[in-house]
Amino acid sequence: MTPDPLLDIRNLSVGLRGDGIGYDIVRDVSLSLYPNEVLAVVGESGCGKSLTALSILALHASPPLYITGGSILFEGTDLTKLSPAKMRAVRGAEIAMVFQDPMSALDPMFTVGTLLTSAVKAHQKVSADVAKKISLEALADAGIEDPRRRFDEYPFQLSGGVSQRVMIALALVNDPKIIIADEPTTALDVTVQAQILDRLRELKNERGMSVMLITHNLGVVASVADRMAVMYAGEVVESGAVGEVLAAPHHPYTNGLLSAVPRLNSEASELVPIGGRVPQPNELPAGCAFADRCSFVTDRCRSEHPPLEHHARTEVRCHHPVA
Ligand SMILES: Nc1ncnc2c1ncn2[C@@H]1O[C@H](COP(=O)(O)OP(=O)(O)OP(=O)(O)O)[C@@H](O)[C@H]1O
Ligand code: SF4
Ligand SMILES: [Mg+2]
Repeated sequence: MTPDPLLDIRNLSVGLRGDGIGYDIVRDVSLSLYPNEVLAVVGESGCGKSLTALSILALHASPPLYITGGSILFEGTDLTKLSPAKMRAVRGAEIAMVFQDPMSALDPMFTVGTLLTSAVKAHQKVSADVAKKISLEALADAGIEDPRRRFDEYPFQLSGGVSQRVMIALALVNDPKIIIADEPTTALDVTVQAQILDRLRELKNERGMSVMLITHNLGVVASVADRMAVMYAGEVVESGAVGEVLAAPHHPYTNGLLSAVPRLNSEASELVPIGGRVPQPNELPAGCAFADRCSFVTDRCRSEHPPLEHHARTEVRCHHPVA
């Protein structure tokens, strides 16, 4: 029997609202993150991956962006309905986020130790000694070799890889149930990328956490994730177990992405944009958003918006799924 999802995003829409402006950017997105799994979210630049992730913790820029529909259930509580104070209690403690650029996320005025112990004390009533112990353990858990030395260093003294591990340690200090990692390794060299992703996967197993991993790299998906969701123009167009989706993609967009990737290994599998232009969120067609780029397009595709439906063992948003 499948367990209940830990995080259940249902029909989420996030839109831009302002003077004479009103359209959704993330549209009707449903994603489930189950206990102890890595869910990868992939898709071309601008398809709404970060906006979806940010809105989980109410970190989207608001105004001008608002959640315009749907719900985000975390252990049965709808996060979209939480007060700012209750959201702060969830953020960092239950669900933590790791961003792409650690240098801009780590405050240069403080040592690593101060950053970590402050994060501990924000959510746990513990003594300074215990906060330090938790912080050193988190540094070790994030794969840092000499936690005591790093504890006293400032962010500018760290390499990119070590900074990203400090970010992961910051995410770990309050033992969250979920880590959302938005392209956590894009800025790093390939070897360090692989080490950090391996560590995230090990942490999932050791701590029983769930990870939502946003990435451009299908090789990373193949080696790290259990399930995956493919986004296109603000919507999920295909989702399912990684083995199923990569072996037999049913959406023409996923199919196109995979045929553009020569080999599924982490060095040669950056997502290659396929031909044609992605429609802007304020000029979406009535039917399928992929119609102008799709070689299987029919009249029905142009007039009728396809719903996300079960097809074989995955979910696909297409009137004519690839067999
Ligand atoms: N603060 C904002 N104001 C207006 N539009 C925004 C804002 N933030 C994001 N957008 C728009 O929302 C869309 C989705 O952006 P998002 O950052 O979620 O894309 P992404 O899939 O994460 O892309 P990338 O792979 O480049 O990180 C883009 O078209 C972007 O221009
Ligand atoms: S609905 Fe039609 S246009 Fe859209 S992806 Fe499927 S076949 Fe292509
Ligand atoms: Mg992004």
